Amino acid sequence: MANVGVIGLQWGDEGKGKVIDYLSDFADVIVRFQGGPNAGHTIVANGQKVILHLIPSGILRENKYCVIGNGVVLDPAVLEQEITELKKLGFIKDDKKFLISGLAHVIMPYHKKLDALKESKGTKKIGTTGRGIGPAYEDKSSRLGIRVIDLLDRKVFTEKVKQNLEIKNYVIKKYYKDEGFKPRQVIKDYSQYVKLLRKYTADSVSFLHKCLDRKKAILFEGAQGTYLDIDHGTYPYVTSSNTMSGNMSCGSGLPPTSIDRIVGITKAYTMRVGEGPFPTELAGPEGELMRKIGDEFGATTGRPRRCGWFDAVIVKRAVKLNGVTGLALMKLDVLDTFEKINVCVAYKIGKRLYSQPPMDIQDYYRCEPQYEQLDGWNRSIRGVKKYEDLPENAKKYLKRLEELTGARIDIISTGPERESTIILRNPFSS
Ligand code: IMP
Repeated sequence: MANVGVIGLQWGDEGKGKVIDYLSDFADVIVRFQGGPNAGHTIVANGQKVILHLIPSGILRENKYCVIGNGVVLDPAVLEQEITELKKLGFIKDDKKFLISGLAHVIMPYHKKLDALKESKGTKKIGTTGRGIGPAYEDKSSRLGIRVIDLLDRKVFTEKVKQNLEIKNYVIKKYYKDEGFKPRQVIKDYSQYVKLLRKYTADSVSFLHKCLDRKKAILFEGAQGTYLDIDHGTYPYVTSSNTMSGNMSCGSGLPPTSIDRIVGITKAYTMRVGEGPFPTELAGPEGELMRKIGDEFGATTGRPRRCGWFDAVIVKRAVKLNGVTGLALMKLDVLDTFEKINVCVAYKIGKRLYSQPPMDIQDYYRCEPQYEQLDGWNRSIRGVKKYEDLPENAKKYLKRLEELTGARIDIISTGPERESTIILRNPFSS
């Protein structure tokens, strides 16, 4: 059995939840390796719509091990809420099958406050999810962070909270002119999560290595997307972790050589939430129509998502950056009613044509997308399960996307339900 990673190739919200839900059926273990409750995976399972922000989507399948890896930043309040809701719906039947790395960093209340303050009072608004992600990763990098294992040790936790709050309170009060935090209150509030965390905290690295030795099938669950990657995304309009396949190893503790296949997820069009450049964005009625048909509203924040045509320039680069072995093309049915469908094949900046995304963010804003136009199929493909049943123009569209991105399409999604999927190749077995 192969080990498979799932990565978003655009700006997040590509539909990873559905693919992970499908693929987790073939996996023994599902591991999240980066990000935190800024993710939002919407899955329709057993007729129920479930939105998960932190817990790996594989939790919805029985008899699977789910791991929150060391690269994740974890908000205990979100964790508690998700566990409660999942248990109410009949999921997480066996607590021993859900593991949280003791090395994962904890999102503290001051992280959430600083995230909000930076967004509202800072000079550059990023349009974050407001979940404290950036400030938590900042503390991790500056070696001030509090890990799950620290939270479980009363003495260490108390010391770390006090040390952190000396600095955070100074910034919050003096720079942002806002109300600070009392160490005792923070310690008290977070102590209530100790019991819950103790139940799930483990040496996830040793566990995952044991799984590897026993040839268990492992699924790496990516969150956000390639263009929100802190290094390769549209910096500074990015999230604060490496979202790409390269981080599957660091964020889980498994070696890069253990990952056999990378499934790159992309929508049949493009969308993003928050601020930042988006060359193929449709600001007018076409974009509005796409948003409406695609129900494009953020799973975490509810914000309307910006929509536009498929951008082959960014996807082609993302295929290379992540070493994608096969694509999953999502929401093809959203394009059903478009008579003509545009695909961006290059950018024009000034008088020059570019086939790669620019490094400079200002150039990104100046990009004029160069479109190739294809005929639409003008009929509903909602729920189609076989490739042969797709209209010819839909097949032509898919073929052209393969040529332009340099990757073959393995999975096609034609609706939100688990069953509305065309599987051309299963990455676990092909
Ligand atoms: P943060 O991750 O909350 O710091 O937000 C940074 C940027 O990443 C913002 O533009 C967010 O909208 C975006 N972002 C973070 N998580 C997701 C996600 O799961 N899907 C889409 N966009 C996201």
